[in-house]
Amino acid sequence: MTLKSPKAFVVGWPIDHSRSPLIHRYWLKTYHIKGEYKKKAIAPDKFAKAFLKLRDKGYCGGNITIPHKVRVMDLVDETDVMARKIGAVNTIHFSGDKVIGTNTDGYGFLTNLQNCAPHWICRNSHAVVLGAGGAARAVVAILLARDAQKIIVCNRTVEKAMDLQKHFGSRIEVQHWEKRNEILAGTDLLVNTTSLGMIGKPRLEMDINSLPAKAVVADLVYSPLETRLLHAARKNGHTIADGLGMLLHQAVPGFEIWFGKRPEVTDELRKLVVEDLENRT
Ligand code: ATR
Repeated sequence: MTLKSPKAFVVGWPIDHSRSPLIHRYWLKTYHIKGEYKKKAIAPDKFAKAFLKLRDKGYCGGNITIPHKVRVMDLVDETDVMARKIGAVNTIHFSGDKVIGTNTDGYGFLTNLQNCAPHWICRNSHAVVLGAGGAARAVVAILLARDAQKIIVCNRTVEKAMDLQKHFGSRIEVQHWEKRNEILAGTDLLVNTTSLGMIGKPRLEMDINSLPAKAVVADLVYSPLETRLLHAARKNGHTIADGLGMLLHQAVPGFEIWFGKRPEVTDELRKLVVEDLENRT
């Protein structure tokens, strides 16, 4: 049942940088839905109590962002397979007296990838994933769920890549960060999930000349929109998928759950968020 005027939230700490309100409010307006989407800044030590109070305040659900995505797993009553595989929840809804958690990051990544590279097939593919944090987990989980054959996880802290291998199993290979330029032969998909290349962070130093021509290159960084990695890939003739597409698509399932309408990721929405990124970074 959809409430007459449903209210959803995004909770994080800090929360000012979040583009989720812009995205969800755009859809509310586009579909003439009388609903609200609000930002909630909640500090980690206050999170458990404040989170459960949101239902009493009339919210039907919302997004959970940094640093609460893992912690919230203990506060929800049910999680779906993706949330459990990733080990984090980014979308919740209140259903009766239960809190249901899911994770739409992998969905957002894959949907964007398929839109940008319709020819790319996940089944039996070989991927290289740079990074081993929460974002890498979401990417790895969805690629494995869609039958990728091999994923090389390459991370500065090799132990974290080994944790991923332990969690996800034998289709994961671990590589040292220093080897990142040498492991690209035979790769169908290269994904940067590290924060390198983001405005204000160090560069991602990467030589992709040995990447096969058919390989698709994705970067989860969306500020700048075209990272140095994506720029080099585009110049080398690779199909590319940027981080903004993932950000927009991961929002789709949440909006549908809370507001009862499956929204579309349009060029107009993308333009709106790009303008906001340009004004605020
Ligand atoms: P997220 O949840 O968004 O993935 P995270 O858990 O902080 O964020 O992970 C950030 C990733 O960027 C990690 O893989 C991190 O590598 P470490 O595990 O070694 O910390 C990677 N990263 C951050 N700064 C880096 C740097 N200067 N060089 C190489 N990798 C870096």
